[in-house]
Amino acid sequence: MTSDSEHRVWLERWQFDDLPVLERSNTPEMTAFLGGPESDKQIVTRHAKFLHLWETDEARMFRIRSAAADDPVGSVGFWKKSWRNKDVYETGWSVHTAHQGLGIAGRALSECIQYAADNGDRDQVFAFPRTDNAASNALCRRAGFTLAGEADFEYPQGHPIHVNEWMFDLSALR
Ligand SMILES: CC(C)(COP(=O)(O)OP(=O)(O)OC[C@H]1O[C@@H](n2cnc3c(N)ncnc32)[C@H](O)[C@@H]1OP(=O)(O)O)[C@@H](O)C(=O)NCCC(=O)NCCS
Repeated sequence: MTSDSEHRVWLERWQFDDLPVLERSNTPEMTAFLGGPESDKQIVTRHAKFLHLWETDEARMFRIRSAAADDPVGSVGFWKKSWRNKDVYETGWSVHTAHQGLGIAGRALSECIQYAADNGDRDQVFAFPRTDNAASNALCRRAGFTLAGEADFEYPQGHPIHVNEWMFDLSALR
């Protein structure tokens, strides 16, 4: 049995020592909808990018903390994007396998979009999970995103995927 305090979830700015958070997300299971695991070098580059993009104001990446775990349990964040000729944010997430199915991603994503509403100057956040990514599509619906359509992307580059286009209107939180 778990108590409410064990369910507390909060976000912290991405830190220099957070490389292991990305490494724990880089499993075949967790990257099944993202093109598979990245190389060690790609993970180090991604980590450096998370740190750098805070400095340049291009993105806000967070580690996810849970009262039920000593170490961070995943990542969530948002970054600037131009989409259909509009300046918007895009968001993305990952929660480590051992901590999935407990509502952590739902709480973390809600915190993240509230942060974007409070601190950002753009009006919309988009998410683009693959149409067959049941967990991420359920998460978008759960967090109050609206299904705006479908699109064809390449992710990683050169790898075509079909995604849902979910939109959250930040003005609803301001
Ligand atoms: C997507 C992910 C973050 C969900 O994390 P989580 O903490 O388990 O999610 P939550 O427990 O907060 O659940 C959120 C919703 O997803 C649903 N869900 C979770 N796992 C699911 C699954 N495997 N299949 C279907 N629905 C699922 C939950 O039931 C919940 O919906 P509900 O509120 O309508 O019941 C996690 O599965 C993950 O990290 N996946 C790998 C990375 C990834 O695919 N990232 C997204 C790229 S777009």
